[in-house]
Amino acid sequence: MASLTIRKLDEAVKVYLRLRSAGNGRSVEEEVRVILGELVQGRSELSGATPLSAVAHAEAAPSVSASSERSVTLIIGGGIAAFKSLELIRRLKERHIHIRCVLTKAAQQFVTPLSASALSHERVYTDLFNPESEFDAGHIRLARECDLIIVAPATADLMAKMAHGHADDLATAILLAANRPILLAPAMNPLMWNNAATRRNVLQLRRDGIHMIGPNAGEMAESNEAGIGRMSEAVEIAAAAVDILRPPRPRPLAGKRVLITAGPTHEAIDPVRYIANRSSGKQGFAIAAAAQAAGADVTLVSGPVDLRDPPGVTVIRVESARDMLHRVEAALPADIAIFAAAVADWRVANEGEQKLKKTSAGMPQLALVENPDILATISKLKENRPPLVIGFAAETEHLIDNAKAKIARKGCDWIVANDVSPATGVMGGDRNTVHLLTRDGEKINVDSTKVESWPVMTKEQVAAELVAKIAQTMEKNS
Ligand SMILES: Cc1cc2nc3c(=O)[nH]c(=O)nc-3n(C[C@H](O)[C@H](O)[C@H](O)COP(=O)(O)O)c2cc1C
Repeated sequence: MASLTIRKLDEAVKVYLRLRSAGNGRSVEEEVRVILGELVQGRSELSGATPLSAVAHAEAAPSVSASSERSVTLIIGGGIAAFKSLELIRRLKERHIHIRCVLTKAAQQFVTPLSASALSHERVYTDLFNPESEFDAGHIRLARECDLIIVAPATADLMAKMAHGHADDLATAILLAANRPILLAPAMNPLMWNNAATRRNVLQLRRDGIHMIGPNAGEMAESNEAGIGRMSEAVEIAAAAVDILRPPRPRPLAGKRVLITAGPTHEAIDPVRYIANRSSGKQGFAIAAAAQAAGADVTLVSGPVDLRDPPGVTVIRVESARDMLHRVEAALPADIAIFAAAVADWRVANEGEQKLKKTSAGMPQLALVENPDILATISKLKENRPPLVIGFAAETEHLIDNAKAKIARKGCDWIVANDVSPATGVMGGDRNTVHLLTRDGEKINVDSTKVESWPVMTKEQVAAELVAKIAQTMEKNS
């Protein structure tokens, strides 16, 4: 099997890989593995990603790497996990983070300042009372001329000193003088971690607003013991650092209530059988997550799906179209309603109270009746109609014509139309090709409908694009 040396790659490719891996919170090597995996599966992100020419251009413009470089003061404590902090330096540098290392006296028993210096390409600080380092950086500058302070490993001793405000060496003096966020990666024997004194100190530090990652459960490096106390892996700590360093995301939908439906509905035939469809709920769930990330207060009414609740979203699980309509009505008022669920058009009129049996009289006849039309019902409300109502049109033929007719018939404002023919793999898949149909103000007719066709995207990308469009429209209308 051939091996690949990233150092030897073309500069533009390296920059592309660095930007892409940093964006995804992976190491460069992991990113290369993901790209190769995607290529093999025929779903490479390369076509949709920043082209190499754009990366080369970005590199030529000094603003990209120079001005966006973040800086971390990394304090390495005296624990057996200190060796992992050398790996952490590499992971942070891969993410374009500038690092200055501080080693406690005990840390120097485990790793040398020379290793930390060689990996960080910076001098290393060890002594509070060193006139040279006080002149050069000084404990106050190490505490404040950075965007984040990481302590890894955070020993029981360092956490005790922090919790009680000690400052008797360079590391603790920096931590006490800091006005920057602090991230601790504790590492210690499980008995030390569970000791009442450590528990008190951890609680105090959390109350003081200190970020913490780990420790993880597992075997201890120095003994045969296992339990909670292993320092988080370097990639995990680097990802947590990147999260803290990331500028706060814009929240264009803050203060807006968004109501979303997702998934299929199940229409009972009898107590054990039902009529369903192939909707996975992925698109609706992705929209809920994107709206929540944009700051909205999101309620998601979902039919039966095998998906986890998106964090921060109120999720209401339902079975049938009628349940869904009741829960949607109860969730009003809303500023925006997005009906992404594949609601069954019909249900069984004569739902069996008991399981239907095979009899010699032949097959049971299933009579169907129409289900309530949730999109039309909410679009035509006289009171409490959300100012922006968006429907989905899943079609297998005449997509745009059917979607145009639907927007006029239902009275909604926008329709997201997608082709769900089996060949597209949209139903249940991870990608979607959609067309956004919008109509102007009060005019509800086929001719006033505008159509925007989007390229093939992941369902998350479709969700982000739709939410951005909604935010733009809300801003324009406000
Ligand atoms: C072999 C060895 C391994 C140690 N590992 C840890 C550890 O993983 N976590 C910890 O909190 N202390 C550990 N200690 C104890 C610390 O080194 C000791 O508390 C020291 O004072 C910590 O200093 P510092 O917090 O200033 O770095 C270890 C000590 C030895 C001798």
